[in-house]
Amino acid sequence: MPAVVIVGAQWGDEGKGKATDLLGSRVDYVVKFNGGNNAGHTVVIGDEKYALHLLPSGILTPGCVPIIGNGVVVDLDVLFHEIDGLEARGIDTSALLVSANAHVIADYNRTLDKVTERFLGSRKIGTTGRGIGPTYADKMNRLGVRVQDLFDEKILRAKVEGALELKNQILTKVYNRRAVSVDEIVEQLLVHADRLSPMVADTALVLHEALSRDETVLLEAGQATLLDVDHGTYPFVTSSSATTGGACTGSGIAPTQISRVIGIVKAYATRVGEGPFPTELTGDVDPAGDGEKLRTAGGEFGTTTGRPRRTGWYDAPIARYAARINGVTDFVLTKLDVLTGWEQIPVCVAYDVDGERVDEMPVSQTGFHHAKPIYEYFPGWTEDISGARELADLPANAQAYVRELEAISGARISAVGVGPDREETVVLHDLL
Ligand code: GDP
Ligand code: IMO
Ligand code: MG
Repeated sequence: MPAVVIVGAQWGDEGKGKATDLLGSRVDYVVKFNGGNNAGHTVVIGDEKYALHLLPSGILTPGCVPIIGNGVVVDLDVLFHEIDGLEARGIDTSALLVSANAHVIADYNRTLDKVTERFLGSRKIGTTGRGIGPTYADKMNRLGVRVQDLFDEKILRAKVEGALELKNQILTKVYNRRAVSVDEIVEQLLVHADRLSPMVADTALVLHEALSRDETVLLEAGQATLLDVDHGTYPFVTSSSATTGGACTGSGIAPTQISRVIGIVKAYATRVGEGPFPTELTGDVDPAGDGEKLRTAGGEFGTTTGRPRRTGWYDAPIARYAARINGVTDFVLTKLDVLTGWEQIPVCVAYDVDGERVDEMPVSQTGFHHAKPIYEYFPGWTEDISGARELADLPANAQAYVRELEAISGARISAVGVGPDREETVVLHDLL
């Protein structure tokens, strides 16, 4: 069985964690290939709720090998805190493998993330403050510290020295912070080295061998298409490749090995942090405060930072864009249950950009900032849909909503989420 990719089709928090967990029992390896602990995946299994940040959601499935790929940036404190938390709840994490080439988040990069945001003021990105951007910047700048460096103290020291030569200048002269010492950083990074050592592997080779044995590999994206550093709403993006292309570079699996790309898309839209969001429900367009209604119904508060998520309506041009960029073969439409109780549901089918109708993502950032949604309105439903398991179980208007979205979103819808629990899913087509 070849590799399958799961990607977010909007601005994150679409329910990727639940989708991964849903497939979990049928896959042999789950790989996180991008991002770090800026991600937050909530997975609900019966009465148990798990919030994962750095570990791939496949860690919850017995028998599945979870892998942190080379494209990830790893905060070692968070990694072991998360492992300990799961072990305390009886989850076996001993199969976890970590790529020797993954980069490590050093404390100075957490500091720089926060002070840079403060410095930017009204131009801030609204980052999670976890040091993600500065660590990827170091990677591209060839100043990064990798997992493998932790096992050769001389090399580690030389790398930290090299990085701090520049970082300390910035910290002290630009941001008026104290300089950090090489010893301090090396000591912090080495705290977990012995515990990490048995998990470190050439994960690209491990995955290659697994695929040769016909085993199933699931590549699980953090963040989402519109937060991708190349394809997202730059500069209001994260600093990694959150799309299918990133699944290859961030894991070492070749594009020809990927057979299926599952795009996760919410039945409405949310965004955390700054940046354009054409269908957002704001006080200006919605004095009744219905953005709040969607937020409350959907529990739209960040898993990582607890920040209230901005909420808005389904945006079909974005879904089509995500379908194209990622080569989506199947969409999983999540949180349909959250829309229960609306008399009518607006769906953005195109934009008005400075008086002109634009059917696809505008070419320029300015165009997207100016984009006003052109809505079509679909009739709602009031019945509780959480017990639906087949399309025919849904009320007629909910079925029509799903079919309409499918017709305008660029790929078929193969599953529909009707509640947070693993079981609360309507399956239309097999996902594997
Ligand atoms: P991720 O970052 O894409 O993994 O998504 P998050 O976990 O950050 O956010 C999705 C939230 O929606 C989580 O709290 C899930 O438990 C929840 N969720 C996922 N699918 C559904 C669904 O179909 N219905 C409802 N009501 N909640 C869902
Ligand atoms: P999951 O995997 C939603 C957003 C931040 C900010 C921008 C840059 O749970 O879908 P960063 O700290 O990455 O430099 O912040 O990206 N962001 C997310 N938004 N879900 C996420 O992950 C996110 N990860 C980062 O809010 O706007
Ligand atoms: Mg999330």
